[in-house]
Amino acid sequence: MSPEDTNLNADLMSDETTQAPPSAPGAARTAAVIPAAGRGVRLGPGAPKALRTLGGTPMLIHAVRAMAASRAVSLVVVVAPRDGAAEVKTLLDAHTLPERTDFLVVPGGENRQDSVKAGIDALPPGYDTVLVHDAARPLVPVDTVDAVIEAVRDGAVAVVPALPLADTVKEVEPRADGPEPVLSTPARARLRAVQTPQGFERATLVRAHETVTENVTDDASMVEQLGLPVVVVPGHEEAFKVTRPLDLVLAEAVLARRRKNDGF
Ligand code: C5P
Repeated sequence: MSPEDTNLNADLMSDETTQAPPSAPGAARTAAVIPAAGRGVRLGPGAPKALRTLGGTPMLIHAVRAMAASRAVSLVVVVAPRDGAAEVKTLLDAHTLPERTDFLVVPGGENRQDSVKAGIDALPPGYDTVLVHDAARPLVPVDTVDAVIEAVRDGAVAVVPALPLADTVKEVEPRADGPEPVLSTPARARLRAVQTPQGFERATLVRAHETVTENVTDDASMVEQLGLPVVVVPGHEEAFKVTRPLDLVLAEAVLARRRKNDGF
């Protein structure tokens, strides 16, 4: 680690009680919340998922850089494991991140929703557009991030990047002890696999998190439950979620290809 790497973010890092500087009056600003408090058990034993390395760099740092790569994003809030906020701060400190972006670290909660809410609660005034991005999607390209932000700024209250499915999907009666009966086969052409970052008008996201209490797997579905429209923009195949061991192999390959193409 270079001295530059160690020192660069010292003045950018805030503790949990410190907020990023307030925005200029009237300016529409975008913040990204990254829930990174999961244990990632499906990847197998080892470090928490967000701290696993890809190409020698923790997945969380890739995810933070992916958000900060957008010039529209001026604050990134990282939601750390409840007992790991200090470790995550040290980690951010030790890596080169854009100087124009502010960073906050807050402790997370029991489930993903609690962690996202902790991130939203830490947002200072002045951020009208909020992205929620899983640390488990470290390689999302900046064009996808920008497309989501643009759709929110164009007036959508909730925006999700998504891709059509290659596989046919069956709804089943889940069973642990034998073959699962198929209940239905939704028309594939109408289905989309949803990614992150998901983008929101801030007030809508806050209301969704205050209103919806049952467990959900993404934030946009909470907005759907409010009866508000959610729209889809094209996702990207490199925005896949690193969940299982094979995903790590794929992510390493994508990263190696990028590094080769970038000439380093
Ligand atoms: O478990 P899953 O893969 O759905 O997690 C999605 C994202 O939510 C991950 O980035 C994970 O770190 C985060 N998460 C969290 N707090 C939890 C559980 C998951 O921030 N309690």
